[in-house]
Amino acid sequence: MRELNERMQAAPIVPLIDESDADRAVATAQALQEGGLTVIEVVLRGEGALEGMQAIVDAGGDLIVGAGTVLTLDQARQVHAAGAQFIVSPGLVDDIAKYCLDEGLPFFPGTVTAGEVQRAYALGLREVKFFPASLAGGVPMLRALGSVFREMRFMPTGGVSPANLPDFLALPHVLACGGSWLTPNDAVAGGNFGAVTALARQAIDLARSVRD
Ligand code: 3PG
Repeated sequence: MRELNERMQAAPIVPLIDESDADRAVATAQALQEGGLTVIEVVLRGEGALEGMQAIVDAGGDLIVGAGTVLTLDQARQVHAAGAQFIVSPGLVDDIAKYCLDEGLPFFPGTVTAGEVQRAYALGLREVKFFPASLAGGVPMLRALGSVFREMRFMPTGGVSPANLPDFLALPHVLACGGSWLTPNDAVAGGNFGAVTALARQAIDLARSVRD
């Protein structure tokens, strides 16, 4: 978790890759890295997603690669075996949390309510995803949760964009923001990886305007 934390402090943005073609997944990851983002989440939503994540891991580079949309313990084991260095889930499932804690694998389960955050805390987690961030109350809701759960760090994801990124990052208990706005389908499918790099740079500039 330490290196992941350090990277998130340096660039508190976690881009999502949702891509079924392994070559495009690798090119997207490289474009993000060129733009300065080195922590990426590959979501397991379609055919080929796991292979895409594996290809990014195999391609090497200075990346920390995690798996997202992990719904079951079997999937958690599978992505871990494929080289995922952290796991993200849309919700909180105890057996995945316990597995990740046992394996020392950072785990970010989606939480919205105080009860969900408290359950994560009771399980021993100190980092959670706040999902879907914009629909679940956005910055005011996250501010309220952070004022109560002083040891928790949050990764808001879902509806984060350049327009609200600075407001989320201004909250001291936000570790990083996740999102797919950095990897738009038209750019990735069209092979316009320069656009992905430009979006990564823009996000870093926005983060610096708030945190430096
Ligand atoms: C997630 O998987 O966390 C969200 O679907 C990402 O939401 P976004 O597409 O609004 O960034």
